[in-house]
Amino acid sequence: MKHYLSINDIKDLEAAVAEAIELKKDPVKFKSLGKDKTVCLLFFNNSLRTRLSTQKAAINLGMEVMVMNFGSEGWQLEFEDGTVMNQGKAEHIKEAAQVVSQYCDIVAIRAFAGLENKALDEAEVVLNGFKKYANVPVVNMESSVGHPLQALADAITLEEFGSKDRPKVVLSWAPHPRALPHAVANSFVEMMKLQDADFVITHPKGYELNPEITNGCQIEYDQDKAMENADFVYVKNWSSYSDYGKVISQDPNWMLTQAQLGTAKFMHCLPVRRNVVVADVVLDSDQSLVVEQANNRTYSAQIVLKKILESL
Ligand code: CP
Repeated sequence: MKHYLSINDIKDLEAAVAEAIELKKDPVKFKSLGKDKTVCLLFFNNSLRTRLSTQKAAINLGMEVMVMNFGSEGWQLEFEDGTVMNQGKAEHIKEAAQVVSQYCDIVAIRAFAGLENKALDEAEVVLNGFKKYANVPVVNMESSVGHPLQALADAITLEEFGSKDRPKVVLSWAPHPRALPHAVANSFVEMMKLQDADFVITHPKGYELNPEITNGCQIEYDQDKAMENADFVYVKNWSSYSDYGKVISQDPNWMLTQAQLGTAKFMHCLPVRRNVVVADVVLDSDQSLVVEQANNRTYSAQIVLKKILESL
């Protein structure tokens, strides 16, 4: 694997999931693979799980890890070509990416959508800027439009906790007081399109995700109907895509309750706002897989780093 920018960069998802589950039995089995190799993690946004699990994955592979909160500690980057840089931005992506490449063997980037300019967000200027100008493989630790490390962890979790050949999996929108990006939902949808599952997306009207991503997926606007006979319910908030970046509903009836969940397993990428997105009783129940999902972030990152190390 050269870069990991989307779940589709994994050639055989089923095999990668099986490899991750095997790796959990002996996480340091490939400790020598990363000897004398360094991964540089650049954060333009906050993180708990991504930061620590990716570090843990690299340590398990014997790598050195450098972490920088680029958004708060680095120079503000310019991404446009030919700009007269006489305003606030002190460094161009061309130099920054090449310089970072000299210090590491893999660079991983977190850079969220700004949710103000759809075209700019979809251009993925930070991730694609590093891909264009860095001389080392690039890993997406959540970009404007995707969170493929989370999606791979979710695929591992579905495999571990599924008891049917073809489970019913529901992705449900939930209310949230702030405008959130589409990245987690987008990558979850992309991952589910690679699964043999009865997959349903449910949300209020106006919260349709990018139709190029949900193309071919079943969309059900009645949340209760969508939940019928579900084996897994994945809850996530996202802002409107058509009225880009706007919160057009905070309808509390869309918060997931125990009654709606029934006997299904509950999934969420975290962090989660209790009693806004999902009721306490669900999160505190044995049906919640959120901690297992977070644990699987280590193994999703480890599989990705391992595949890249093997191709260096
Ligand atoms: N799920 C996830 O990416 O968590 P963090 O934002 O804490 O990294």
